[in-house]
Amino acid sequence: MASSDLMVGLEIGTSKICVVVGEGRPDGTIKVLGVGQAPSRGVRKGEIVDFETAMKCVHEAVVDAEQKSDVMIRSVYVGVTGAHIQSFNNRGAVVLPEDRDEIDDQDVEDVKINAREVSIPAPNAFLHSIIQHYHVDGQDGVLNPIGMLGEKLEADFHIIHGVRTRIQNTIRCVKELPLDVEDVVFNALAAAQVVLTQHQKNLGALVIDIGGGTTDYILYVDGAVKQSGCFAVGGDHITNDISMGLRIPMTRAEKLKIEEGSVTLGNCLPGETVLLKDDSGFAGKEVERETLNTIIHLRLREIFELLKRKLEEEPFINYIGEGVFITGGCSHLSGIAHLAEEVFEVPARVAHAQTMSGLTSAFENPQFSAAIGLIKYAHAVQADRPRANWRQRITKFIPGFR
Ligand SMILES: Nc1ncnc2c1ncn2[C@@H]1O[C@H](COP(=O)(O)OP(=O)(O)O)[C@@H](O)[C@H]1O
Ligand SMILES: [Mg+2]
Repeated sequence: MASSDLMVGLEIGTSKICVVVGEGRPDGTIKVLGVGQAPSRGVRKGEIVDFETAMKCVHEAVVDAEQKSDVMIRSVYVGVTGAHIQSFNNRGAVVLPEDRDEIDDQDVEDVKINAREVSIPAPNAFLHSIIQHYHVDGQDGVLNPIGMLGEKLEADFHIIHGVRTRIQNTIRCVKELPLDVEDVVFNALAAAQVVLTQHQKNLGALVIDIGGGTTDYILYVDGAVKQSGCFAVGGDHITNDISMGLRIPMTRAEKLKIEEGSVTLGNCLPGETVLLKDDSGFAGKEVERETLNTIIHLRLREIFELLKRKLEEEPFINYIGEGVFITGGCSHLSGIAHLAEEVFEVPARVAHAQTMSGLTSAFENPQFSAAIGLIKYAHAVQADRPRANWRQRITKFIPGFR
């Protein structure tokens, strides 16, 4: 890439590979120059299971993005997902030496390092340490402690980690192309950057990205990330349920779900059916619309309830004043926001990336949220921190980012 203001986000999803090219503008905004896509193969539940095949698909999407944006891509920010991704909150503390009482950059670095001095499972690597709040000598709500006077600096972090080899497999797949990996970012964190405004993060919100094989989530309260993670369940499971329940092949079940499916129950006329057209010209099969919708409803309800139970392990779910934002391919399903409202008992809506120039309706697709979010993340992080390559990042380096 010619200009350092160009940023590329790459999401290797279970259903599709998506590459977004963005350009940082002098006024601080980002312009989306183009989005490349390719169907995903060799990826299951968000993780690479067939290296060669996945690599070909990534290559295809990159070439598509290069053509659409007229930019040659050399390096990317890569989104990662998978049920191996876990998170927790932890507080770090540093005491200033006796001969100094002004907090400096190094103290802020040290408090981050201290917060990570907890044991995570041996195969895991740190992915993100996201600052929540600083405390100086017990004073809460400090936003930037550098330059303040104090004896003790404490800081709360949301720490996201995952299995090192799984993250490295994703990175290797990209590096073999060959493309440089600028950074690896948890998908839901990326999506939240474009789905939510800072105001919504402040008031509290939950972002749920339901893709093909995974459901990624991230919860903000008081402008800070409090909970995040991933379940290995998504739209493919709905398709599979339809295929099994109605005894039709997966490809037809997928088409039926997309063209006719709804989450809403009790909306059909008694006995209303959908005629499945047969590709080979044989007489089509009729399926009951209410049965189709019930299958979709039950699986999505299960996903939401699973997530709710997980979130209820901590108190933060009670503080999401702005409610639930659903994104990812499954958010296209009619009635999904209503079901989320019923389960989470807060307002819910379907959301896609917002507030970027060049973002025409073609890009306003919730399936692109994570990939578009990656360039927003890139823009913020590039302006904010010294360079560290991915090897340092997943072994040592951790940026502060909300
Ligand atoms: N219009 C639609 N209606 C219902 N489901 C859809 C629609 N479009 C895409 N999906 C579903 O969304 C899922 C893919 O979402 P996406 O966010 O692209 O996944 P991933 O990021 O895992 O590749 C698939 O299960 C697909 O069936
Ligand atoms: Mg996705």
